[in-house]
Amino acid sequence: MDNVLRLQYLEAMGIPVWVSKTLPKADSLELEASTDAASPEPETVAEILDALPEAAPDDWGSLAAEVAACTRCGLCTTRKNTVFGAGDPHADWLLIGEGPGQQEDEQGLPFVGVAGQLLTEMIRAMGLSREQVFITNIVKCRPPNNRDPHVDEVASCNGYLQRQIALIQPKIILAVGRIAAQTLLDTTAPLAKLRGKVHSLNNIPVIVVYHPAYLLRSLPEKRKAWQDLQFALRVRKEQQ
Ligand code: URA
Repeated sequence: MDNVLRLQYLEAMGIPVWVSKTLPKADSLELEASTDAASPEPETVAEILDALPEAAPDDWGSLAAEVAACTRCGLCTTRKNTVFGAGDPHADWLLIGEGPGQQEDEQGLPFVGVAGQLLTEMIRAMGLSREQVFITNIVKCRPPNNRDPHVDEVASCNGYLQRQIALIQPKIILAVGRIAAQTLLDTTAPLAKLRGKVHSLNNIPVIVVYHPAYLLRSLPEKRKAWQDLQFALRVRKEQQ
């Protein structure tokens, strides 16, 4: 296959092709490999893809830096700080809330307000600490007046969350509250229908639990919240 055709294939597949300015033009380009008798020139698209260098692996630092500088949606104009998440980046437990509130926006940390204190207690009641889990949110910037995040805001942030999940590789995910649960599970079902079941996201079990802010408003539900946490602990134990 000649090099022009090769470059056309790569471009058609959306694979960026960089040609050094110091090298001759594509139609006269001789790839190094073609001069190596031990590695014959690839002839098929599959062979070309095999021969390409691996894409640079994602890493935590560059992801955090991207989030810190994000301007993908309008929330960047009202936020004080982005809230990437906190805890162990290799945690077995990943807790995902809805989005930062006022305190979180001020401090750049998740769940540090009153609801956060209750979440910390819930984590302790499970025999864990905040340092042992990773806590993040569906959206990384505070929606003004703590409104629910809009669909476009959730969509803009989704790539960050998916990359966090891929890097952390948690053993279990707790969807904290209705918005997190509905977003992660791509459903409009009410929380009452989602709790008490093992859902799945990329083969990772997802357990839906009450949001601590809701529990602060509705103390009688605290018992059910504890049942949810015990359920999550059982699911995790069965994996071990
Ligand atoms: N509520 C959330 O869902 N997330 C936070 O970080 C704080 C409050």
